Amino acid sequence: MNKIKSEIPYPFSPEEFRKDGHALIDTLSDYLRDALSGKEMPVLPWNDPDHLAEVFSFESAGGENELFDSFIKRIIDNSIHIHHPHYIGHQVTSPLPAAVLVQFCTTLLNNGAAIYEMGPVNMAMERNVIKRFGSLIGYKTQFDGIFTHGGTSGNLTAMLAARQVKTDYNIWEDGVKESDTPGYMISEQSHYSVGRNVKIMGLGDKSIVRVPVDKHFRMRTDLLEEIKNVAEKKGIRIISVVSSSCSTATGSYDDLEAVAGFCEKYDLWMHVDGAHGMGVLFSEKYKDRVKGIERADSVVIDFHKMLLVPALNTLVIFRNGERSFETFAQKASYLFQKSQKNVWYNSAIRTIECTKSALGIIAYTALKYYGGSYYGSYIDSRYDLARVFSDMIKSDQLFELATDPESNIVCFRYAPDGYNETLLIKLMLQE
Ligand SMILES: Cc1ncc(COP(=O)(O)O)c(C=O)c1O
Repeated sequence: MNKIKSEIPYPFSPEEFRKDGHALIDTLSDYLRDALSGKEMPVLPWNDPDHLAEVFSFESAGGENELFDSFIKRIIDNSIHIHHPHYIGHQVTSPLPAAVLVQFCTTLLNNGAAIYEMGPVNMAMERNVIKRFGSLIGYKTQFDGIFTHGGTSGNLTAMLAARQVKTDYNIWEDGVKESDTPGYMISEQSHYSVGRNVKIMGLGDKSIVRVPVDKHFRMRTDLLEEIKNVAEKKGIRIISVVSSSCSTATGSYDDLEAVAGFCEKYDLWMHVDGAHGMGVLFSEKYKDRVKGIERADSVVIDFHKMLLVPALNTLVIFRNGERSFETFAQKASYLFQKSQKNVWYNSAIRTIECTKSALGIIAYTALKYYGGSYYGSYIDSRYDLARVFSDMIKSDQLFELATDPESNIVCFRYAPDGYNETLLIKLMLQE
């Protein structure tokens, strides 16, 4: 052992880690101060992709001799500054400081959160976050959940569970029968990952049954019955409805009570993609947006969107926790002992991923230090602000609002007189 150690450079120096770590925190703290105060900086320091690949070639800036601190500064300088007040755009959030620091800590500890044996603290904290969300949703005692790396993966996990539960043969073991076409009813405004997940499952386009939206971009629940009938006439066996709370493009919330009534009538799996908008659970003012959520079979919530933790961090929660064990009837004797079947603390039985980051610790930390009341006021203020912004847009002749915002998402376009849809698309294509 000693011989091997002496032959290779030994990279673990606690003192160097301390020195670089202190410098890193100083650099990041200064950066955060500047960004938050709106200091003059290019919020989006745009570079041609090939040029940037050159800027970060392995030989650049002195290669391996570049000081760590200057390397970090180059990363910051070339990144998008999402804490800056001039930043407006994508959904990834400005992460809360305590969540960033605890993620740094969990990165060093690197306990893979697949099973309890590998990440005990994570599993314990995850448990308590799930309990908190189960009661916020209004689930009774049977609920359970798991964390996944991202909403796409979370939606896929829930949609796989739906397929397994709502099928009278074992799809997981036997594959989809040739004579069977399971179908998911999804809104035309569903996040693209929802339709793509159906294809990832190998079901193809025919299993995606699209439901049109109304003028507020909400799923037309009045058409569910008719669309189901038409699909069934084509040989599609509808198993699930996937609702958006809220949709990505316009921030519209589907009518969950209507969807729940439909799903209960026909014994369908109701999945709610709450990746963006489920933070309303913390808001007294806006939580009626998700009225009926306690009737959903599964719900996805992204912490890395409106719940202000670093990407990726998603919770999938099931009304009946037992159902989540059916998704992947997994056999992996090296990880799971027979006696440990269906235990909550071995999450790999229930997720696509095996090894995961300590997502539960990060979500738990955000809840512990910022708590429900902070989230409530954060959601209220963002949603209120969106209304102020949409009023400004409505009063400006040069812009056109898609619909009144129901969340913090405001969808609008530049459309002065004479700029019709055809012209706008033409101009966009010329860009
Ligand atoms: C409504 C909705 N669902 C799912 C996703 C996918 O989430 P993720 O990017 O975490 O995979 C997004 C993100 O853009 C979203 O807005």
